[in-house]
Amino acid sequence: MNQEQLLQLCEVAHNAPSADNSQSWRFIISSNKITITYDTHRVLNKTFAADNIATLLSMGSAIEAIVQTCIEHNISYTLDTTLKLSNNFTSYACFSFDQEVSEKFTLKKDSFLQHRHTNRFAYKTQQAEKNIIDALIATLNASSTTISWFDDKTSINEISSLIQSASEIRFQTPEVHEWLMQSLRFGKRERHEDGLHVSTLDLPPLGSMFMKFIAPWQRTQTLNKLGMYKIMAAIEAKPIAKAPGLMAFSCDNTPEAQLQTGRDLFALWLQLNNAGLAVHPYFVITDQITRLHSNAVPSRLVAQATTLEEQTRKIFNLKEGGNLCMLLRVGYPQKQAVRSKRLNVMDVVTIKD
Ligand SMILES: Cc1cc2nc3c(=O)[nH]c(=O)nc-3n(C[C@H](O)[C@H](O)[C@H](O)COP(=O)(O)O)c2cc1C
Repeated sequence: MNQEQLLQLCEVAHNAPSADNSQSWRFIISSNKITITYDTHRVLNKTFAADNIATLLSMGSAIEAIVQTCIEHNISYTLDTTLKLSNNFTSYACFSFDQEVSEKFTLKKDSFLQHRHTNRFAYKTQQAEKNIIDALIATLNASSTTISWFDDKTSINEISSLIQSASEIRFQTPEVHEWLMQSLRFGKRERHEDGLHVSTLDLPPLGSMFMKFIAPWQRTQTLNKLGMYKIMAAIEAKPIAKAPGLMAFSCDNTPEAQLQTGRDLFALWLQLNNAGLAVHPYFVITDQITRLHSNAVPSRLVAQATTLEEQTRKIFNLKEGGNLCMLLRVGYPQKQAVRSKRLNVMDVVTIKD
């Protein structure tokens, strides 16, 4: 493989989903290898840590994006997913490629891999056919990830209440508020950017002005005293209550299993989009439970977070040591999503040779 081909593979991986579009990866290209690492210098303390479930899901997605491209283009590789999680160097995977790979390989412009995306807008009420969903889930049946599908009103309402409770905690937590606010992008869209542009969100009229207004934590704190967090959480949970279907991903509480779930998440998301179904991820429940375990939930909200965890375990039927990793709202879209941009690929690649 030449450097240009390796760069093209990095570009595909760079299009993987990441929490708040933080793109916390750095791809190191060296002698026919791509190593996927955490970009400590760029993202530390601005988004999830290197060993957080959110990061492992994103990195797993980036790995799977390369795997799927190699399958599509018949490229042989060896993949080492030995996790190295240390303070000064974290790596999630290393791909080694054959020197002999055809010089002719260039990434297909119309590859189905480029169709995966988040759609936060409203969905039609029409439900996805259960046999389509079952067939897609069945393609991953050898994996350590458990995938569950909910399309009955009772479960959907119960899960919507969980989202509402988790969001109430989130909107009262200064650190999470600051991460979200620093990731929001207003104004003209840049060709290359990270973060969440407000046009990709389903905000009501004047919503983006309001988000700008509440960006300083002190303002949010004052408005929270008047109950703003409850309104924000109800708005967040509403699309879930109206969802035609929900897909939950859970796995053992180990970084290896969570990385694998990231791979499965990407693979299924791709298939769902390919079947014409829109996907909207919700990480808020997992985030609040993870924060509870690392004592990061404000003390006055610990009781609410504990109840959230108990109910989550019950509703998702989690076994001992199992974790909910991600929830997807799934349905046929009413309108096309506005796609998130990416940083320039050279901002996330280091070439070592
Ligand atoms: C671990 C993880 C957590 C995410 N959590 C949320 C979420 O809670 N709400 C949301 O709207 N999008 C969420 N997303 C979607 C990302 O914001 C999205 O993937 C990113 O902005 C890039 O956009 P794209 O998926 O359209 O390429 C999450 C994605 C990942 C990988």
